[in-house]
Amino acid sequence: MQVVVTGSIATDHLMVFPGRFADSLMKEQLESISVSFLANHLEVRRGGSAANISFGMAQLGLHPALVGAVGPDFDDYRSWLDRHGVDTDSVHVSEVHQTARFVCTTDEDGNQIATFYAGAMADAKLIELGPIEARLEGIDFLLISPNDPGAMANHAEECRQRNIPFMADPSQQLSSMNQDEVLNLIEGAAILINNEYESALIHERTGLSAQEVLERVPVRITTLGAKGALIERRGEEPVEVGVVLEKRKADPTGVGDAFRSGYLAGMAWGCDVERCAQIGATLAAYVVETVGPQEYQFSHAGFADRLGEVFGSDARAEVAAHLKIA
Ligand SMILES: Nc1ncnc2c1ncn2[C@@H]1O[C@H](COP(=O)(O)OP(=O)(O)OP(=O)(O)O)[C@@H](O)[C@H]1O
Ligand SMILES: [Mg+2]
Repeated sequence: MQVVVTGSIATDHLMVFPGRFADSLMKEQLESISVSFLANHLEVRRGGSAANISFGMAQLGLHPALVGAVGPDFDDYRSWLDRHGVDTDSVHVSEVHQTARFVCTTDEDGNQIATFYAGAMADAKLIELGPIEARLEGIDFLLISPNDPGAMANHAEECRQRNIPFMADPSQQLSSMNQDEVLNLIEGAAILINNEYESALIHERTGLSAQEVLERVPVRITTLGAKGALIERRGEEPVEVGVVLEKRKADPTGVGDAFRSGYLAGMAWGCDVERCAQIGATLAAYVVETVGPQEYQFSHAGFADRLGEVFGSDARAEVAAHLKIA
């Protein structure tokens, strides 16, 4: 099954300032501010929703096609993704803008000064699915994850025109979307995915009740953080799936993306919704235990065993067969 993952591709540059911002900021001088903080630690993390999600799927042996816009600085990141099994041939490279970047400095009190540069992501609206569908000889399923708002709308429209089943994943972009934009994104979607907060926001923005959302989208997944996930389907009983307890807490960044990776891998293998969510929950646990959204590692046997410990031997056997292990 050919899965295409569209959305943001970005890097986070995280610095630590071993002092207090407040000691360098003068209230009376804010009009003509010019400060520089001497950071003693820099970490560059690969991220962006679409990149994280494709990376996770590739860790489970799939070869998803990543679709998004980057800048001429993408070479290193591309080779990382290629090396880890992601198809990056349909990533659009802007000649003018750099890859989206989040730059954040944290002081010793935990205060943060951050800037997000969307950069090349704005060019994602220029991407057309036609040539990608031709290169891949068909797209069986497409994910629309957070991206330039124009790109998200265009991808949804093109999926409807081309009859490509898609998952609508507005995530953090929801807060800047109006009623029409949300309705447009979910129209014709095969699946809507959101967390609890986003679920409430969808109802607020659209004025639709949960029932009315299900009349538009046949499957809706709501992730509930450490409480698991709820899957509602039109005309069927809801399914609840628990979590895989983390062995240690390192950094929750990317946990939602990891759940999506596992869920989509399950779909690509033809699993039912419950199994898909169990695979998502297992992958999410690895991310919680690791600093950075693409730094976790596991063996396929280890993954299947861990899933089996929580969800039972049938679940383990089914997943192990897809991972081609005993
Ligand atoms: N502390 C945890 N321990 C184990 N699993 C977790 C934990 N938190 C989240 N998960 C798993 O990850 C899934 C997604 O989590 P969550 O609902 O927090 O996503 P999110 O709010 O979209 O996250 P993000 O901050 O990445 O956007 C949950 O359904 C669950 O399976
Ligand atoms: Mg999220």
